[in-house]
Amino acid sequence: MEAVILHGGQGTRLRPLTHTGPKQLIKIAGKPVSQWVLEQIREAGIKDIIIILGDNNPMRVIEYYGDGTHLDVNIRYVYQGKARGLADAVYRVKDMVSDKFIVYLGDNIVPYNLAKFSKFDGSASILLAKVNNPNRFGVAVIKDGKVIKLVEKPKEPISDLALVGVYAFTRDIFDSIENLKPSWRGELEITDAIQSLIDKGKEVKYEIVDGWWKDTGTPKDILEANSFLLDRYAIRKIEGEIKDSAVDGRLIIERGAVIENSTIRGPAYIGNSSKIKNSYIGPFTSIGKECTIENSEIEYSVILDNVKLRGVSLRDSLIGNNSTVEKGGKWQELIIGENSSVII
Ligand code: TTP
Repeated sequence: MEAVILHGGQGTRLRPLTHTGPKQLIKIAGKPVSQWVLEQIREAGIKDIIIILGDNNPMRVIEYYGDGTHLDVNIRYVYQGKARGLADAVYRVKDMVSDKFIVYLGDNIVPYNLAKFSKFDGSASILLAKVNNPNRFGVAVIKDGKVIKLVEKPKEPISDLALVGVYAFTRDIFDSIENLKPSWRGELEITDAIQSLIDKGKEVKYEIVDGWWKDTGTPKDILEANSFLLDRYAIRKIEGEIKDSAVDGRLIIERGAVIENSTIRGPAYIGNSSKIKNSYIGPFTSIGKECTIENSEIEYSVILDNVKLRGVSLRDSLIGNNSTVEKGGKWQELIIGENSSVII
């Protein structure tokens, strides 16, 4: 069995961070979102992985993952380019997969037992979760253990079970995609392809996720996913150097990091070779590698790699790779793309 990770899309809701690369490579707690996905797939025993690339700097994805050997998986790549819809992306693996395969949106985090999910019978299976605002999702209508209908953003309260970004297919899906017409937004929709399986009398199964899950499409979602992953996975692992500092709680401080005259309160992640001086790093914060943070206070934020912060106070903020914020005062919900400078 293969797993397909979708790594394309436009990422408009995460601009400016996605002006320079795909959103799935944004690192949370030390790993790109799509690496959390990949490792979950590997833990389910699936080692054959196909990554679908979009047109937003796809070489970065190949440079980061390579052939997958270092992550103990085997990765092949397929180029989708322009985002023409999830069904268009899935169709591109037609000659690469066997009888059954999994499709996982590379910007989603769905802690669910994929080994169990992948053992479906029928033509396809979808993962669903109960939501309070079904009118913002694709939802599934269920009867007698089967999906009988899918509705995109329903106006009537027909079901509160939304599709989350993980699917299991048989090769039947390719015939359905071949006959699809683009939707009003000009994309080939995977919900239409699954509906066409149902219309042909094929069996579409489902499983329900009853815990937390997230589609990390917006900055707020990234911050929520950061809090969840730190809360769930941060252990106390301190490999960096601590000088005259208080470091409390569940913290990962990677090798080469130096914490000086500062307070760090977990759960938090500090990447390798980052230097933190005269600062306070509060809970639910991820700091990438090779950052320099001085005379600053950071809480509930995601700071990506090689960022320089001096004399700032940040909360609920997301700062892109290689950016600098200096003497900036107090900020809440500050979102900065890559290679930017904010010096006030
Ligand atoms: P979306 O988040 O729905 O779309 P998007 O990435 O274009 O984002 P935005 O709405 O902010 O512009 O896509 C869901 C996932 O599927 C995401 O991981 C990107 C991926 N995707 C593809 O790989 N190919 C596609 O053609 C589309 C539409 C999405």
